[in-house]
Amino acid sequence: MFVYSDNAATMPLSKEALAAMLPFLRDNFGNASSVYGVAREAARALYGAREDVARALGARPEEIYFTGGGTEADNWALKGAAEARRERGRHIITTAIEHHAVLHTAEHLGKQGCEITLLPVDEQGRVSPEQVRAALRPDTILVSVMTANNEIGTTSPSARSPPSRAPTARSFTPTPCRRSGISR
Ligand SMILES: Cc1ncc(COP(=O)(O)O)c(C=O)c1O
Repeated sequence: MFVYSDNAATMPLSKEALAAMLPFLRDNFGNASSVYGVAREAARALYGAREDVARALGARPEEIYFTGGGTEADNWALKGAAEARRERGRHIITTAIEHHAVLHTAEHLGKQGCEITLLPVDEQGRVSPEQVRAALRPDTILVSVMTANNEIGTTSPSARSPPSRAPTARSFTPTPCRRSGISR
């Protein structure tokens, strides 16, 4: 008997998702950016999917972007935030057990002049909202904490309840890590 126990990393497509995707893989395969019939059909479906995801997350459709995969999404989120908020600050908070797509991107941004605070996690791989709150500074432009870890499956309480800015955050001074630009 085959037992697969790595669902935190990847899992089979659900029957529902497969059924929803099949028409677009087989018949309505148009490029959603083109103007002819099958393309407009694909664009309508894409916009519908964006609205569904936005509703599920409590976001606006224009805040939802689809990417080709996780690494692309992580790179886009971190580099995009650093670029867009350059004038507001250069401090980014993340955790020691993020996927390497986040850690390597953070390390790259550290070399580009951002200051990265890498929060430690407890024995269960969790970072507390209090730790995140304590690390916030006036120049913090992004907090990147994974909701569920892709190797150990831990879900993070701080991802479920985003911290509000606390006055204590203003006095936090991380120790810089000279080698990589990452501070702990
Ligand atoms: C947070 C995170 N980023 C990136 C990846 C890699 O995704 P992909 O292979 O789609 O680039 C994973 C995979 O588990 C992930 O959990």
